[in-house]
Amino acid sequence: MSEQELDESRVGFKLRDADREDGTRLAMVLDLMAAMPSVQTLKAWALDALAPAVGEAALDVGSGTGEDVAEFLKRVGPGGRAVGVEPNGGLRTIAQERHPGLSMVDGIASALPFDDESFDVVRCERVLQHVDDAPLAVGEMARVLRPGGRICLIDTDWATAIVHPADPDVLGRMVDFFHTESANPCSGRTLRGLLADAGLAVAGETAATWIEPQSGAKQGFLAMMGKTSAAAGAITADEAEAFHRGIEEAADRGAFHMSLTMYAVAATKPA
Ligand SMILES: C[S@@+](CC[C@H](N)C(=O)[O-])C[C@H]1O[C@@H](n2cnc3c(N)ncnc32)[C@H](O)[C@@H]1O
Repeated sequence: MSEQELDESRVGFKLRDADREDGTRLAMVLDLMAAMPSVQTLKAWALDALAPAVGEAALDVGSGTGEDVAEFLKRVGPGGRAVGVEPNGGLRTIAQERHPGLSMVDGIASALPFDDESFDVVRCERVLQHVDDAPLAVGEMARVLRPGGRICLIDTDWATAIVHPADPDVLGRMVDFFHTESANPCSGRTLRGLLADAGLAVAGETAATWIEPQSGAKQGFLAMMGKTSAAAGAITADEAEAFHRGIEEAADRGAFHMSLTMYAVAATKPA
């Protein structure tokens, strides 16, 4: 896979892309993300908060390659039930190839194909930023959760992104453009309210900072941000070139910085 193909796939998690996006490309991006310390920290925190027990029923909404569903299955055991909902058929196939027998169901967060109160545990990670109606989706998660059940939402808040060095005006126009491309760019800050508004009792919250390695100045999301913004008319071609030159030169002397805050919030459904 070329760098360009990998770059483009960073915007391929929208529902409207689910049928045409190649699961193999998306799986490669998800694997890179899953290796980031911030993502590992929040996955571990969520698992502790959810504490799936032997014999319980656990659901992961927007499960990608199914790694969190497989972890649920280990915890609930053969007498329990672990299910992943994922609209991308390519990702569902990869999940089942990686974990034969894993239950991966076609569906979307805002219309979960399950009965009321059918799960003890529900998780949803880095999905709500792509969902058009997040309150409807979290309402669905609350509906399928049994009274006393546990839920955890994880998401990024793109307004917390810091990129250095960059001209603030040019960066501002690039960020504004990328915000229009995302359903919920500031999803992270809304998680607590989404749970409370769905009638759930918040039990804990935490955050982790994604710190991009120096190599991120030359590959991945940052490497296409200026070019894509220029192609859309948000900045000029000269501004894009200066942006890329600036972060690449900084990375060459170890001075590039890009960080982003991700949040996790756990809640219970009142009995
Ligand atoms: C960034 S990935 C996160 C995958 C996984 N939760 C993880 O932690 O690795 C976002 C996932 O949400 C899925 N997705 C996008 N829109 C969705 C929707 N409306 N309902 C459910 N899943 C959706 C995408 O197909 C993709 O697998």
